[in-house]
Amino acid sequence: MGVILVHVAGDDSAPWAEELKRQAPELDARGLDAVDDPAAVEVAITWKLPHGLYRGFPNLKLIQSMAAGVDHILADPQRPAQVPVARVVDPWMGRSMVHHVTLAVLRWHRRMDWLEELRAGPTWPTGVVFDADAVRVGVLGLGHLGQAVAKAMQGLGFQAAGWSRSPKSIDGLACHHGPDGLRELAAGSSVLVCLLPLTGETAGILNAGLFELMPPGSLLVNVGRGGHLVEADLTAALDSGRLAAAALDVFGTEPLPKDHPFWADRRIYLTPHIASEINPVTATRAFVENIRRVRAGEPPIGLIDPAKGY
Ligand code: NAP
Ligand code: GLV
Repeated sequence: MGVILVHVAGDDSAPWAEELKRQAPELDARGLDAVDDPAAVEVAITWKLPHGLYRGFPNLKLIQSMAAGVDHILADPQRPAQVPVARVVDPWMGRSMVHHVTLAVLRWHRRMDWLEELRAGPTWPTGVVFDADAVRVGVLGLGHLGQAVAKAMQGLGFQAAGWSRSPKSIDGLACHHGPDGLRELAAGSSVLVCLLPLTGETAGILNAGLFELMPPGSLLVNVGRGGHLVEADLTAALDSGRLAAAALDVFGTEPLPKDHPFWADRRIYLTPHIASEINPVTATRAFVENIRRVRAGEPPIGLIDPAKGY
């Protein structure tokens, strides 16, 4: 049996290797430093392995992303093209993402930042009405996470619709696709939630042209990837009032540089890429199952299509 490489950039890989061994004691799970024979590496479970390293493992059977996204793997120009790549599919992540997006939508809808400021008065306003009918949530990406979020928004009594690459029919949900579908969705949404994978087609999709279609005072929630957002266009849309607020969990550069203007912009709800952090216990169950599958010659769960980029 080969070695299972476990690598988490900027963090300690040891707890992950330990969890793998706890759930499957027969596995020889190791961090990068402990790999003495590259030819023994059978599966690589990774978050941001430095580019160029995958090609050094000649007997690799699977690259397993330690995330729902695989952009960090596909961005390696030297990745061996014949090795399958899988993403994490874990219901735990859907629930966590739902909680995060709900928090952002309700913070904007129920004007929590304004309510907090009233304490300074103190001021007791009257006649405040929160119009839930004005909350129309458009979800970009109707995959595992996007569908969970769209359904949760409907569960809160908000209108929801979604957009995907291929045409979809989902009970009770207005589904759009293609460039015209994107424009229709944006024009009908006072909240846009980005839950797309980062690909050549989706990079920079959150831009001035899209914001311009939305009603004034809208909310943008980007929980996809930083590369989806044109940052200068966001600032302009906030300044013009087209967007009232933006909840950003992901950034072009992470950690967000200390001198980045977003830190000081109170219209931006900032979180440090924690919308749906991977859970070591539940994700490891998915890793163990995929190791079993590749060893049995079966396709892994979450197998991605490199041509599509997700
Ligand atoms: P998924 O199941 O693969 O779904 C991706 C969705 O995006 C699909 O509906 C797909 O359309 C759609 N899509 C892809 N390219 C498109 C395009 N060019 N135009 C329109 N729609 C397109 O992925 P997921 O598990 O829901 O995760 C989505 C992304 O969320 C991940 O890739 C990652 O970047 C991000 N994420 C962030 C966090 C965080 O903590 N911030 C956590 C987890 C994931 P089809 O259905 O037609 O294929
Ligand atoms: C996190 O960002 C993920 O893609 O799982």
